[in-house]
Amino acid sequence: MWSWPAWTYFSVLFLLPGVHAAPTDIPSAASFYVPNLPGLHQDPTHPLHIYAGHILSDPHAASGGENDVFAHLFFVMVKARRIADKERLMFWFNGGPGCSSLDGLMMEIGPWKVDGEGGLKIVEGGWEEYTTMVYVDQPAGTGFSYTSTNHYIHTLQEATDHVMQFLRTFYQIFPEYLSVDAYLGGESFAGQYIPYFADAILKSSLNVPLRGAAIGNGWIDVRNQYPAYLEYAVTHGIIDVSSQSYKDSKKATDDCVAKLNGITGLEPIHHEACERLVSDVLKSKSRTVDGVKKCVNIYDVRLEDDQPYCGMQWPPDLKNVTSYLARKDVVSAFHATSKPESWVECQGRVGMEMNDTLSASSITLLPSVIERIPVLLFVGDQDFICNYMGIESMIKSMTWNGEKGLGKVQTKSWSVNETPVGTWVSSRNLTYAKIFDASHMVPYDVPDAAHDMILRFMGMNFSAIVDGSARIPSNVGDEAKPVFLDSGDLPFSSKLPGKTPEQTKAQWDAYYNAGSAALVLLLVAVMIGLYIWCRLRRRRVHLPRGTVIAEENIPLTSASEGDLLDSEQARRKRKGKERAIEDGDGSPIFDVGEDDEEAEGHDERRW
Ligand SMILES: *[C@@H]1O[C@H](CO)[C@@H](O)[C@H](O)[C@H]1NC(C)=O
Ligand SMILES: *[C@@H]1O[C@H](CO)[C@@H](O)[C@H](O)[C@H]1NC(C)=O
Ligand SMILES: *[C@@H]1O[C@H](CO)[C@@H](O)[C@H](O)[C@H]1NC(C)=O
Ligand SMILES: *[C@@H]1O[C@H](CO)[C@@H](O)[C@H](O)[C@H]1NC(C)=O
Repeated sequence: MWSWPAWTYFSVLFLLPGVHAAPTDIPSAASFYVPNLPGLHQDPTHPLHIYAGHILSDPHAASGGENDVFAHLFFVMVKARRIADKERLMFWFNGGPGCSSLDGLMMEIGPWKVDGEGGLKIVEGGWEEYTTMVYVDQPAGTGFSYTSTNHYIHTLQEATDHVMQFLRTFYQIFPEYLSVDAYLGGESFAGQYIPYFADAILKSSLNVPLRGAAIGNGWIDVRNQYPAYLEYAVTHGIIDVSSQSYKDSKKATDDCVAKLNGITGLEPIHHEACERLVSDVLKSKSRTVDGVKKCVNIYDVRLEDDQPYCGMQWPPDLKNVTSYLARKDVVSAFHATSKPESWVECQGRVGMEMNDTLSASSITLLPSVIERIPVLLFVGDQDFICNYMGIESMIKSMTWNGEKGLGKVQTKSWSVNETPVGTWVSSRNLTYAKIFDASHMVPYDVPDAAHDMILRFMGMNFSAIVDGSARIPSNVGDEAKPVFLDSGDLPFSSKLPGKTPEQTKAQWDAYYNAGSAALVLLLVAVMIGLYIWCRLRRRRVHLPRGTVIAEENIPLTSASEGDLLDSEQARRKRKGKERAIEDGDGSPIFDVGEDDEEAEGHDERRW
């Protein structure tokens, strides 16, 4: 039964009545359309355009047996809400391994946040404002994606092969995006994924116009990032250099470095001898408050969490996100019912099966990626686990485009809305942005800065943007972001040398006049287009008329919420530094005879 993915039923129901489609057929775009989500109160005049569902992503699926359940990666696509200077598409990946990219959608850069009443509220600052965003749950087993446990992947190359197969089909379903500038974005362990994915896309015959890759607080380079734990703790007053704790941590760091120096084979992604550094370095900050043991939140050193979680219960939205995504009506609306277990932020099993020792770290690929496309490394300065000092020392020791480190370029101050938000520096296709007052999840803390950052990185022509948050003023160094002004101001006179201000103004007046005439025509065309499109779509999809209304009327809190959280909490008996959470209900449907016990004490970092 599981070899019949959800979309097949859609095709059978709506498109090919009575005909059995082979499971490898390409589903229609319409079968992924999400008219609305339960408890999401949208502006009916500006509805979001959402698509979601599973894509068969195992390149070897065709050779499988009838009862095999192959990788089905899950995605949510939210189309750009506003006209920008050009169309852009970004694939977003959270880390782990095994953590769902719906973290990005629900808590960081998506169009909504949980509203505290069981539903969702639309928020500003989402990256879908100008960019079509595709959040991908991978490797299979993560989030709403699924596969049988005997098909879990073990290497970064396999993860890449699956993502490439996903993209191949994605672009067959949505061929119009083959002409749209594409970007990869992600965070944390995606610092491993993204260079692999970028390299594979650039080498493939897919013809995806990949224009850049952005990695936030990435885990990329053990040789520079492990030693940075102690360095960060000292610089930020977390550890006192005269303490015993410092001496112990120093020795542990030196041991770790010595072990890493002795490695001659595959460049490691983690090293056992170094894993204890996180807890060693933070140990002196642990304390007991009112009988509760507290520790530093490894994702935001300004915060504390209960032991042994130390950040795993953060951010606070996570609880409500988890209970929202557990709602049956939500799972149906996202076309995710083929996933048998409830959504959990991080799947320990997926992380455990990804065997670090079989893949070379992405630091071995990153320089060659930067030689082909622009790369942005951004880092929230309050994160400990993938802190900026590690990223900075990695950049210093990395050689790309014929030179080591950033070279002579100047690091500039960067401000948004007249508030300093960080520093900005670019050299030979690598941009490094350090973001002030931001955690491991940068956009969660500073959405305006994060959005300004990604739009700058993607080379948005701000002068062409009439509306929306791209008009929030910002500066890098002395250079102010150009803004589309429709007063008599001369926003870019400095950019048009050889013209007098009067000439420039005349030119702009002409532009605006032509612009407004064009706008009226465009609006008329859009209205006619929308009318035709709506009618066509209604006929094509045949949604039962009651569906949407019924979903909107669902009570805001689901009865099973409490039960689910309790059982989930109970299963989170982990060792603190792992971000992983096990399945909501212990018995996996796909177990194929392997030992599926929880990774008790398994000392692997996941975030
Ligand atoms: C989560 O939801 C509950 C009610 O269901 C609400 O009281 C609480 O404030 C919400 N928490 C957050 C962080 O939104
Ligand atoms: C990872 O692979 C190595 C080499 O094949 C093997 O020795 C080790 O047991 C594997 N680890 C896990 C957790 O599967
Ligand atoms: C930078 O990236 C572009 C593609 O955007 C590429 O053509 C170029 O060769 C890269 N290298 C340098 C040194 O800028
Ligand atoms: C940016 O947009 C403005 C206004 O549409 C246009 O005049 C200008 O040529 C654009 N610049 C670039 C580099 O495309």
